[in-house]
Amino acid sequence: MPKGNTGKARRHRELKKIVICFAVCFTIIAIYELSGKGSSARERRRKTKNILRNGAKKKFSSDKEFTNLTEEEKIDLVVQGKFHLVNLKIPPTGLNEHHRYEGVLGEFCQINWSLHKSEPSSYPMYRDLTKNSPSCERPFRLDIKKVVDVMRNYDDEREAKGIDLENQVPHSLQPNGFVFHESRCGSTLVANSLAAMNPPAHRTYSESAPPIAAAKACGIGGKNCPEGRAAELLRDVIYIMGRTDDPNETHLFFKIQSIGSKYISVFTEAFPDTPWIYVYREPVQIMMSQLAQGVNRANCVHQLSNVPDEKRKEIESHGKNLDDLSNIEKCALHLSLLCDSALHAIYESGSLARAVSYDNIVQKLIAHIIPDHFHILMTDDEKENIQKVGGQYSKGRGKRKAEFKEDSEEKEKNATPEIREAAKFFLQSSFELLEEEANEKYYGGGV
Ligand SMILES: *[C@@H]1O[C@H](CO)[C@@H](O)[C@H](O)[C@H]1NC(C)=O
Ligand SMILES: *[C@@H]1O[C@H](CO)[C@@H](O)[C@H](O)[C@H]1NC(C)=O
Ligand SMILES: *[C@@H]1O[C@H](CO)[C@@H](O)[C@H](O)[C@H]1NC(C)=O
Repeated sequence: MPKGNTGKARRHRELKKIVICFAVCFTIIAIYELSGKGSSARERRRKTKNILRNGAKKKFSSDKEFTNLTEEEKIDLVVQGKFHLVNLKIPPTGLNEHHRYEGVLGEFCQINWSLHKSEPSSYPMYRDLTKNSPSCERPFRLDIKKVVDVMRNYDDEREAKGIDLENQVPHSLQPNGFVFHESRCGSTLVANSLAAMNPPAHRTYSESAPPIAAAKACGIGGKNCPEGRAAELLRDVIYIMGRTDDPNETHLFFKIQSIGSKYISVFTEAFPDTPWIYVYREPVQIMMSQLAQGVNRANCVHQLSNVPDEKRKEIESHGKNLDDLSNIEKCALHLSLLCDSALHAIYESGSLARAVSYDNIVQKLIAHIIPDHFHILMTDDEKENIQKVGGQYSKGRGKRKAEFKEDSEEKEKNATPEIREAAKFFLQSSFELLEEEANEKYYGGGV
């Protein structure tokens, strides 16, 4: 082969190497920039929200008040069940480069549980509790892994001495049930009912930040990390959140954010024996409920993401284009993704999962879900406590005695043709499958 040619080929190869090198570097920098910007924008939004929520002078995350405590003293407050986990900080680099879940931080403060226990409708979300618990203005931060290691050691040592942890405080309660849902479908009423049924004995976390942050840390299905890592983090987060120093507390429940419906598999991987429910509602009614504050402000519109390829194809096969959907259609598509994902998990979980529809949900809890599915026997007083909370509007912050109104008929009547159309196109089939599941399990297939 002539010399000139090989030289040319070599130069060509070298040039190619340089180009590839640049491309790789550029991509890495771009990803780094994007993720950095993304998280800092989120951080800013969160801060603004918190400032709005807590009043401008009360900033949320600062360590000042507890700088007089050593790290050991802070960990001890958590291990003793006196301080509670309120936020989780996943490192921006994710969890896949490390051994275990290195670098995950928790924010801790002292929650006044009696607020939620005595008036769940006035403090319907965990954030309402943190807002009204003074030490939560200045939570302290700890490494989650360190906290868990100290807590496990402490429990193991006591067990080795023959101490029965179940009858000793502090200890960590095991979750008795998880509540997933489509949002605006009665799930807060479920959480309030679980709290109100037996306030001294029941601790109910309603849309708290840490479990969903853990479940999402490795993406859908935990696929962005080594196998089992998201579930491991979630299990340990719940171990911390179940910590109690109150001997009267015996039961623990979590209502998860609606987006958690896409991450049920992480929960079932972490807690393969814990029963769970998925709360849903009739398509037109749930659309009306979602859009009640205006289409442009609706969460369902803005939360649409991660449309699976099969879904995209299915939509396109009906002559629709994913990029041209109206906001109403986006809302319906988002809800359908939650329902699809929940259905998939229901099929996987078998008898540990129940679909529960909005209609008469309080009666279903009393007659069926709590005793048969969560396996908790109920006294007549406890049933009455649930009836009472069921008569109040579930998010009656401030409006203490706001009565719960059945509004399904009105919602049906006022729906526009576009809403009806979107509800039917995107949601009807998963709704029917959920109904089948609900009825199958409720009646044992008998009716
Ligand atoms: C540290 O500060 C907190 C809040 O001001 C106070 O309650 C606590 O007693 C202090 N602890 C010590 C060890 O000084
Ligand atoms: C907790 O809230 C109750 C009201 O339910 C109040 O009476 C009590 O003083 C609060 N406890 C603390 C420690 O702030
Ligand atoms: C536990 O319940 C008993 C009886 O209702 C009550 O007297 C006691 O104060 C409760 N303990 C705590 C730590 O709340």
